[in-house]
Amino acid sequence: MCQQQTITRAAILGLGMHVPPRILTNADLEKIVETSDEWIVTRTGIRTRRIVEGDQAASDLAVPAAEAALRDAGISAADLDLIICGTTTPDMVFPATACLVQERIGATRAGAFDLLAACSSFVYGVVTAAQMIEAGLVRHVLVLGAEVLTRLADWSDRTTSVLIGDGAGAVVMGPSSGGGGVRSTVVGSDGSAADILKLPSGGSRVPMTEEVVAKGLHRARMDGQSVFKLAVRIVPETILQVVQKAGLSLDDISLVVPHQANQRITEAVARATGLPLERFVSTIEAYGNTSSASVPISLWEARSDGRIKDGDNLVLIGFGGGFTWAACVLTWGR
Ligand code: UT7
Repeated sequence: MCQQQTITRAAILGLGMHVPPRILTNADLEKIVETSDEWIVTRTGIRTRRIVEGDQAASDLAVPAAEAALRDAGISAADLDLIICGTTTPDMVFPATACLVQERIGATRAGAFDLLAACSSFVYGVVTAAQMIEAGLVRHVLVLGAEVLTRLADWSDRTTSVLIGDGAGAVVMGPSSGGGGVRSTVVGSDGSAADILKLPSGGSRVPMTEEVVAKGLHRARMDGQSVFKLAVRIVPETILQVVQKAGLSLDDISLVVPHQANQRITEAVARATGLPLERFVSTIEAYGNTSSASVPISLWEARSDGRIKDGDNLVLIGFGGGFTWAACVLTWGR
């Protein structure tokens, strides 16, 4: 007799986010670098961003986001089997920020590791968690995107400093009990573009020394135009690929939740896919580019605005330094 095997999908059970209260406006930036509100708004779509104060680090934003996601999911921290923290700006090189979160939220049974795929880290985390849940290796996973990019910015470089903001977003994932869950995934990378977006020091190639700091190698660097061009080529291709893998057509997708890098990138992606711009979530105006936190923050905002209902098919897509990209199609609901 032939036994039919049903695959348990991994669903998002709860969402949370946290941004620091301090708002940095374009007018504030006009006092720091030679720029203008008009340039920033027309070239990027950004009007404000949040910025940490004092010695706040990624885990300080991650913990309240995680606690909110757990409350939303109706799951206690002790029920977590795994914590994946997507971050490009961990509290320190090691131990993992995920371990610091594990201790502070009391996730006593959970394994914990950081995942670094730059701005794609959160979606890479969702893809990883989904595979582990589907395989039956774990049940409840907390996936975070937590970033304090403003700490690594070169505040004398107007091309990067005006783009970034701080924040954290979190999801709790677990086995689906209804029709919701991750239907398809895509991950990709192109290391030949490693140089276009990087933080050169602090690793084993260029350890941090006074000389390194004097040369400014401890600050993030970006070739904005190259990043822009790569993103508008790869993101539409990846959306089409992941939708096709799910056995769906673009008409079946009610919302795309893209990484928030530049509103002009989102507009170019909408044009290239033929999807109306209204189907792309945009939160860049308020938060700027929060790297791996931008997708979960945007997901949280879209749900708060009543734009997501059970049964909707969403695409989550991250892209960034590496170059890396990751996407999934997700049917909303448990
Ligand atoms: O998370 C993923 C990582 N990041 C991204 O995805 C970013 C992708 N790239 C971008 O978003 C855009 O390339 C930028 C926003 C970074 C730059 O926009 P752009 O339209 O590509 O500008 P540009 O680099 O071609 O520069 C145009 C002009 C230049 O002046 P000149 O040479 O024409 O006189 C720049 O010096 O704009 C100047 N400029 C600025 N002016 C005022 C660059 N930054 C600023 C600024 N304020 N902040």
